[in-house]
Amino acid sequence: MARHLMAAAVLLMAAGMNSAQAQDYPARTVTIIVPFAAGGPADITGRIAADIFNRHLGQKFVVENVGGAGGTIGALRAARAPADGYTILSGHLGTNALAPAFYPNLGYDAQKDFEPIGLTAEYPELLVVRKDFPANNLNEFVAYAKANASQLNVGHAGLGSVSYIGCLLLNAAIGIKPTMVPFTGTAPVLNAMLGGQIDYECDPVLGTLSQVRAGTVKALAIAAKKRSPMLPDVPTSYEQGLPEFDCAPFYAVFVPSGTPQSVIDRLAEALNKGLSEDSVQKRLADLGADIVEPDRRGPKALANLIKSESARLMPILREAAEK
Ligand code: MLT
Repeated sequence: MARHLMAAAVLLMAAGMNSAQAQDYPARTVTIIVPFAAGGPADITGRIAADIFNRHLGQKFVVENVGGAGGTIGALRAARAPADGYTILSGHLGTNALAPAFYPNLGYDAQKDFEPIGLTAEYPELLVVRKDFPANNLNEFVAYAKANASQLNVGHAGLGSVSYIGCLLLNAAIGIKPTMVPFTGTAPVLNAMLGGQIDYECDPVLGTLSQVRAGTVKALAIAAKKRSPMLPDVPTSYEQGLPEFDCAPFYAVFVPSGTPQSVIDRLAEALNKGLSEDSVQKRLADLGADIVEPDRRGPKALANLIKSESARLMPILREAAEK
């Protein structure tokens, strides 16, 4: 009996500490795991979220880049971190929705092991080729790629990353199987393309925007129904007759399951406030993001988006992978 009472007292004390800790949150530096290399779309977006949390929660939010295996190494680390709000994941469509299509033994459950905080941004993808690639539009690209598929190297950020997914859709639509070369993120892919080792990549628009503008790489198509205001001269895949190349991944913030609700609420509220700021909206728009409207912000909207995007894209990806 006495032992039971002791155990109950310990549990109560632990629960009390938990809620006290949650009220103080954040009382120390928070780590945001970005599961890709520095300098790419996930990193830039994760740092925008970190800046919002810094300013609205009065604490340091520090980005740690943990790249590898299409973002699943960093996501796994976040899933296994203590559920206390001091480790956050800035993940995306790949790590937190579609990874199970590519990894039978993922090590985490993309939906059950995380609590969604909210969307940060969505960006359409671009097909980008090296500067001297012998094609200047999607039709020329398709003709050249079909004739030379076995010699082409496609750079991507690992199996299941959104750059992999975008080019999987593109390659399947064309009916080619070029060599897929994995990197820890698309920032190193871009470097390899500038060095001439990579022929093409499919990356969210912000990843290559400044190089496209500088003319050091060429953008042939935006994988969306409408053009990007940041690159108004680049035609869409739809305009060029390849609607299957349609990919606009979301980037979003998550915490491990079991994180106290008050911590989730604080983070979600801060993110929402940040996304309403003109300066943040301008920064995201300048990167080519589709701004997340208020009704699509927060945990519930993100949970729904993950469910609907998984249901919509899993069969498309399985079919593309079999082609
Ligand atoms: C990156 O930041 O390297 C990319 O967004 C990762 C990806 O392609 O999924």
